[in-house]
Amino acid sequence: MKVLVTGGAGYIGGVVAARLLAAGHEVVVLDDLSTGHADAVPAGASLVRGTLRDASCDVLSGGGFDAVLHFAAKSLVGESVANPALYWDKNLGETLALLDAMRRADVRRIVFSSTAATYGEPESTPIEETAPTRPTNPYGASKLAIDTTLAEYARLHGLGGVSLRYFNVAGALLDGGLALGERHTVETHLIPNVLKIALGDGDAVRMFGDDYPTPDGTCVRDYVHVVDLAAAHLLALDACEPGVHEVFNLGSGSGYSVREVVDVCRAVTGRPIPAEVDARRPGDPAVLIASSDKIHRMLGWKPERDLTAMVRDAWTFLSAAR
Ligand code: UFG
Repeated sequence: MKVLVTGGAGYIGGVVAARLLAAGHEVVVLDDLSTGHADAVPAGASLVRGTLRDASCDVLSGGGFDAVLHFAAKSLVGESVANPALYWDKNLGETLALLDAMRRADVRRIVFSSTAATYGEPESTPIEETAPTRPTNPYGASKLAIDTTLAEYARLHGLGGVSLRYFNVAGALLDGGLALGERHTVETHLIPNVLKIALGDGDAVRMFGDDYPTPDGTCVRDYVHVVDLAAAHLLALDACEPGVHEVFNLGSGSGYSVREVVDVCRAVTGRPIPAEVDARRPGDPAVLIASSDKIHRMLGWKPERDLTAMVRDAWTFLSAAR
């Protein structure tokens, strides 16, 4: 297929673009490089620099596209609370422009990066796709609005859409000479932050809160390897059906606490990694664990790489990048 990958210069978009190429698809990346890196676009994909609003119509009207994989987004929870309008504009507004361009060019398949943040504070875990969606920040709310929009476009315009709700994505793609991993200018994610301390960049890991109702008091999350996540995108692409919008969670079904993640990082790196308890980070739910039964049942996906593999690959990537 010929596929447009929006946000393909970012962490997850770049890895998925590489896996699409490896599977024989033709890939065009559209990215404004506001947070992405041109060198994260894998060789073999062409890069168009621009926003969805300014460029998606021109790119898609170039013709021949079968599908869009849509990663381009603002994704910092704290920033979204400070500046909600930015999130509604960049996430929902630009997606509407993309959907309009898709309609004009008669491109009918879309796979969208949604998030566990659409659920908010869960009533019970593991979280199923039928759980209530009550996002607790504008980031999650804007992603949920896009899920809803895709459902409407499927019903009203015959779009075939899949929303993949990621839980905590980690690890890197290491494939021969290719190494693609997380390198955000503002890094909020736990695993790269812990590994930075292992590399000597800072004194101690800050663990946000140890008084949660969890076995060791720190927050529990469900981590999924970016390469497993990419495999789910390829399955979803094949599964897009005109007039149907499906939502799938992507996680492993098991949870690890912040303390456990730090311990795995110590074991993988062989370094002591000092850690101290800090105040809770506002808006963090105590436990987020996905049920991924639906995508297993319907598309046959299941994760193959465990937390140690995620930390090992992220460590290889980050150590080499220095
Ligand atoms: N944490 C620390 N110290 C750090 C960084 C994180 O203790 O330096 C803790 C957080 O408080 C949280 C856990 O580690 O308890 C995981 O935090 P991340 O920032 O790595 O991930 P989140 O679970 O907050 O965020 C992920 C996605 C978001 C999405 C969210 C849904 O990265 O995009 O899940 O809740 F919005």
